[in-house]
Amino acid sequence: MQLIDGKSLSKKVQSSVKAEVEKLKKEKNIVPGLAVIIVGDDPASHAYVSMKERACKAVGFYSIAHKMPESITQDEIIQIIIMMNNNPHIHGILVQLPLPAHIDTDKILEVIDPKKDVDGFHAYNVGRMVTNLDSFVACTPLGVMEMFKEYNIELEGKDVVVVGASNIVGKPMASLLLNKNATVTVTHIYTKDLAFYSKRADIIIVGVGVPNLIKEDMVKDGAIVIDIGINRLEDGSLVGDVDFDNVSKKCSYITPVPGGVGPMTIAMLLSNTLKATKAFGDTK
Ligand code: GUN
Repeated sequence: MQLIDGKSLSKKVQSSVKAEVEKLKKEKNIVPGLAVIIVGDDPASHAYVSMKERACKAVGFYSIAHKMPESITQDEIIQIIIMMNNNPHIHGILVQLPLPAHIDTDKILEVIDPKKDVDGFHAYNVGRMVTNLDSFVACTPLGVMEMFKEYNIELEGKDVVVVGASNIVGKPMASLLLNKNATVTVTHIYTKDLAFYSKRADIIIVGVGVPNLIKEDMVKDGAIVIDIGINRLEDGSLVGDVDFDNVSKKCSYITPVPGGVGPMTIAMLLSNTLKATKAFGDTK
């Protein structure tokens, strides 16, 4: 069994982003800028945003967080996004999800300029991704693809089961795998018999937020298991969606939690923001 080390791969990505930022500053006097909008005071969301801000600082980005009260209206959020769309110092815009129930998330995401949509959530980018055109791709599935590349894991012809069908993780994950010629099955909360599918999979990718969902008897020998879940248990410890101690014995590769997919998500946000900065001003 080999661990897929997301922490060290994310550091590698970060240092290559940092080197490119220095070059951009020196040669073109451009500093990549990321605007983050966060609404309400959910502690987990604030913790994620702080991590994103720290990562931006570490690679030399300019970053600004718009921290808005729960009572903000949809129109007020839209006004902030329009301001960021028009701000030439901002190359990437990210609205931290989830938003409060009185806000229509789809409407908000559609206001973001697709060229600044570093989260890859805008329908324009989703459509381009599905058709295998160049696009911004959601950071978590993009981070998983980067792991496959780094560990030379071939996807063509593989049976892959994606557990979870969200717009942020499961659906884009499935599209990216399909673009690499994998045979993809997407399972979700209404799937009748998850084990039926997972037992046949060469690769299982799970991100649903249920500790110990994937158990030893649901995984075939030699499978590759990617755990996107992050769950905080009552004792304060962080675990994924996979019963790591028992499942890892059967795997050829597995990601740990923490130190697996999590750090890659932030690394891909940096990489997407750099990409947006380099393309800034392109009219195509
Ligand atoms: N909430 C949970 N994951 C994400 C993410 O990747 N991006 C944003 N914007 N919000 C999230």
